[in-house]
Amino acid sequence: MPLTGLAIGCLGGGAMAQALLTGLIKSGIQARNLYVSDTRHERLDYLSRELGVNGRESNRDLVRESDVVILAVKPQVVEEVLKETGDLFQPRQTLISIAAGITTRFIEKFLPEPVPVIRVMPNTPCLLGCGASALCSGTNAGDRDRERARAIFSAVGRAVEVPEGLMDAVTGLSGSGPAYMYVILEALADAGVRVGLPRDVALLLSAQTMLGAARMVLETSEHPGRLKNMVTTPGGTAIAGVYALEEGGLRVTLMRAVEEATRRSRELSGGLK
Ligand SMILES: NC(=O)c1ccc[n+]([C@@H]2O[C@H](COP(=O)([O-])OP(=O)(O)OC[C@H]3O[C@@H](n4cnc5c(N)ncnc54)[C@H](OP(=O)(O)O)[C@@H]3O)[C@@H](O)[C@H]2O)c1
Repeated sequence: MPLTGLAIGCLGGGAMAQALLTGLIKSGIQARNLYVSDTRHERLDYLSRELGVNGRESNRDLVRESDVVILAVKPQVVEEVLKETGDLFQPRQTLISIAAGITTRFIEKFLPEPVPVIRVMPNTPCLLGCGASALCSGTNAGDRDRERARAIFSAVGRAVEVPEGLMDAVTGLSGSGPAYMYVILEALADAGVRVGLPRDVALLLSAQTMLGAARMVLETSEHPGRLKNMVTTPGGTAIAGVYALEEGGLRVTLMRAVEEATRRSRELSGGLK
């Protein structure tokens, strides 16, 4: 395990930091090797009490004590925090940023050369250990740093590597994707109610069906088209439903959603850097 014995610190102790720390503990990392800093005292108390991790009032102390620092503050706070702590980083450390829209080049401006930086775009299901994360490398990051980041984000779901130029596309697909899935699930539950099912039953069946279908794709590695063919018998119910989806333009609507979100991500990150 590339994380064994390393001190891992979350700079910022919000929702995402909590998810990552929880996932790391579940994956076998000892809480005594985990650190968190936050401006809110109650947040540190809570995380120390619930997870047994080490709370630090000072971001500078956290950076001094960590081998891997996960930058987990809101994007608007990144510059302030890097101005406060940047001079402390050393090449033996890995700085992993999860701040949406902040480039590795921007982060590197505040660090002494050659500190390795990895940028990650996770999504909210990380909170349940079921996230989808994409990571990319800054100028000085090597295999050691990528392995560290992969191990951390594999502890809260699945992680893939992409070139940095694709991070807006990742934001448009998996970063924003949970919202699309919730809209689809709500619509399916409404549809179930329309054909006579109680709402709670309709929602449970819809959500479990989405989860099951996603697992079929991930765990069988079959093409989704082939899996769809397997449930569409000639003249049957599923193909009648698929016909209605095609008539309604579902595919192109989803493609447009990802395209629009990607465009918006580019627009927003252009304003941050
Ligand atoms: N949540 C997601 O699903 C998600 C997905 C992808 C990427 N991200 C990225 O993950 C990062 C964290 O998101 P989050 O949802 O975990 O945010 P969050 O819950 O707001 O967590 C950030 C934490 O940092 C604290 N903080 C603020 N200023 C600080 C400072 N100067 N030093 C130390 N701590 C400070 C905040 O305290 P206050 O509340 O008092 O400000 C808060 O507890 C963001 O950059 C976001 O873009 C999140």
